[in-house]
Amino acid sequence: MRLLVTGGAGFLGANFVLRARREHPDVEVVVLDALTYAGNLASLQPVRDDVEVVVGDVADAAVVEPLVARVDAVVHFAAESHNDRGLADPAPFVQTNLVGTAVLLEAVRRHDVRLHHVSTDEVFGALGLDDERFREGTPYDPTSPYSATKAGSDLLVRAWARSYGVRATITCGANTYGPLQHVEKLVPRQITQLLDGRRPRLYGTGAQVRDWVHVDDHGAAVWAVLERGAVGQTYLVGAGQERTNRQVVEHLLALFGQPADAVDLVPERPGHDLRYATDSTRLRTELGWRPRHTTFEDGLAATVDWYRGHEAWWRPLKAETERRYARLGR
Ligand code: NAD
Ligand code: DAU
Repeated sequence: MRLLVTGGAGFLGANFVLRARREHPDVEVVVLDALTYAGNLASLQPVRDDVEVVVGDVADAAVVEPLVARVDAVVHFAAESHNDRGLADPAPFVQTNLVGTAVLLEAVRRHDVRLHHVSTDEVFGALGLDDERFREGTPYDPTSPYSATKAGSDLLVRAWARSYGVRATITCGANTYGPLQHVEKLVPRQITQLLDGRRPRLYGTGAQVRDWVHVDDHGAAVWAVLERGAVGQTYLVGAGQERTNRQVVEHLLALFGQPADAVDLVPERPGHDLRYATDSTRLRTELGWRPRHTTFEDGLAATVDWYRGHEAWWRPLKAETERRYARLGR
């Protein structure tokens, strides 16, 4: 099989490419990545001799068409992925997440290539603390520029599947953590703050709840759906590890031997969703997927070790990320 991985130099994409090379060495992998601020070729360093990397924009049909023409399947990770950036400047989110997905859909339609589209649980909007978890049939109700453009991209995929018979599947994944994640996101930001002897930064009071899944488990889910998922179907990916942001930070503080109140409370994110929680029953019962990282705190401790051991990977990203947050007052 020849596989095109869009966004393969980002967090989920790079971990997925490393997994593909490790577990399916017979599969040829081509990466298409624009190398935005979030793309990092250093993440692919262990497989650079085995993987073809094309630097280009998923919204550029002239780049996408010939690549799709020579593969059997596409896994589409490429996106603008960070809510805070989407709130500050939504235009690249519309361009990459909506236009990019539409361009890719046209290419897979023309060449009859299988597509797996990687999406997010945020398309369902925000839950109250006592609400039932998201399921595949939960109505879409996105609240931010990021989640609205991801929801729109899912609807495009569904429309192309129904109207043109495109062989597509979708996963809606929960908050993901692990190695190779950009330091702008909650977990690596706070780990690198603590490694630098600084205090973690919590939005508001840290009362929001996220449902954490390890990146290896998320990648295994994407592979299972690519291989065995029912065409036209959506699968939710989550490990049932709901924690408040405050709990996440307090656990990190404990790992660093710091008191639980050694944290800075900073201004709220506008429109901040209270809670996400995914019910992954379909993925578990129909495809036999199970998370290997069943306890978030264990995965978090291993992630701290990874960042401690890979300063050369994250250090070049840290100062600019914190300058950006300083401008936002966070
Ligand atoms: P990321 O920001 O770490 O990586 C995105 C990658 O896409 C980068 O390598 C970037 O260079 C590339 N890219 C951006 N615009 C591009 C363009 N126009 N053309 C080609 N490449 C482009 O993101 P991530 O966290 O790895 O997320 C990957 C996918 O998974 C996204 O679609 C996201 O919505 C989804 N997702 C992420 C999470 C999470 O917690 N990180 C959870 C659920 C779903
Ligand atoms: O739910 C899946 C989504 O999870 C993915 O689709 C997104 O790509 C991914 O970025 C993530 O979105 P969030 O907005 O939840 O992630 P983020 O890491 O930015 O924030 C997680 C929570 O932590 C959120 O409630 C905001 C809060 N936060 C974040 C940062 C960076 C803080 O309290 N302090 C921080 O410094």
